[in-house]
Amino acid sequence: MTDDRLHRYATNVTAGVSDRAVVDAFARVPREYFVHRVVDPDGRATAVTPEQVYTDEALVTRVSDGRPSSSSSQPSLMADMLEKLRLRPGHRVLEVGTGTGYNAALIAAITGAPVVTVDVQPDVVADATAALARVGADSVTAVNADGYLGAPDHGPFDRIIATVGIGGVPPAWFDQLAPDGMILAPIEHGGIQPCLTVTPDLAGRGAVRSGFMLAAGALHPRATATLPMTLPDPPDAVPVPPLDPNRYYALWFGLAARDDRVERRTVDGLFEKPWQTACTVTEPGGGSVVVGLDALYPVGADAGLMTQVRALVGEWHAAGGPEVWDWHCRFTFGDGLWLPTGWRLEP
Ligand SMILES: C[S@@+](CC[C@H](N)C(=O)[O-])C[C@H]1O[C@@H](n2cnc3c(N)ncnc32)[C@H](O)[C@@H]1O
Repeated sequence: MTDDRLHRYATNVTAGVSDRAVVDAFARVPREYFVHRVVDPDGRATAVTPEQVYTDEALVTRVSDGRPSSSSSQPSLMADMLEKLRLRPGHRVLEVGTGTGYNAALIAAITGAPVVTVDVQPDVVADATAALARVGADSVTAVNADGYLGAPDHGPFDRIIATVGIGGVPPAWFDQLAPDGMILAPIEHGGIQPCLTVTPDLAGRGAVRSGFMLAAGALHPRATATLPMTLPDPPDAVPVPPLDPNRYYALWFGLAARDDRVERRTVDGLFEKPWQTACTVTEPGGGSVVVGLDALYPVGADAGLMTQVRALVGEWHAAGGPEVWDWHCRFTFGDGLWLPTGWRLEP
């Protein structure tokens, strides 16, 4: 890897980032030390090429039951998260979801201080520990543990970041958080996992559009089955103002902030890419309305549900199409986790 190529990669994946320390970290920590092979859905591994390592793509490194169980996340998403984490030199950081160790090494490059990273898979921790040693990231300690308990032997932390989708914030993270600390984590919200920030006073805010593989164990979000759905043929489409995928994500977030019937579905033929999923409002026992990029599609829904969803979409547009980070919430305790509730828009 030439310095030139690493710089080009760093410039590319941090294009939306203004924190110089984040940009510099991507230019100083070579991703190729952390990802040597990628794995397909059948578990077949192939050696990774320099072109693959230095593109802005998530790279799956482990698969379990046909689903990714560990990866190096998409670099531009990592950059966005690290900026929103507002890291400063000297900050002590806990990362939940070590994966390859690349993100922990980036954090250490920014803070120059101890980083503790935990992962539930022992072989993942062993590989990450070896990679961290290769780049000389001596201030990072990788621990094999369930992140639900945080890292009780190592706190307090100025920042806690999760790089795996979780159902809510476990109490241990607040116990281990410094009084002026901050948590940033992808937290279940209507079937997606946007990153939210949370402070010790239990105030939460949307921060980053994101999607993640889901955590194992007690951190696993409760309702996560992404069930398939088929539109009637021909579909009964009701047009709505068209949105690009980023704005669609913002609408999805906004609908889930207003209505707890929002869920994620795979819908045949709705999107160009087969892995793309749809925001759906489902009335238990009463059909669904699928929200597309430019239309609403009733699937066994009565006129009442359709009217409600049209009103919700209309309210979101009338509010100026708020983004993920325009929404604020409070965290309340339920079922072993602190959960975001009472979403409201604030300037
Ligand atoms: C997307 S990867 C993390 C990417 C990583 N930060 C990197 O830089 O490569 C998610 C990781 O979370 C781990 N994980 C899943 N559930 C967990 C849990 N309950 N506690 C800790 N780690 C967990 C997985 O084993 C996986 O390695």
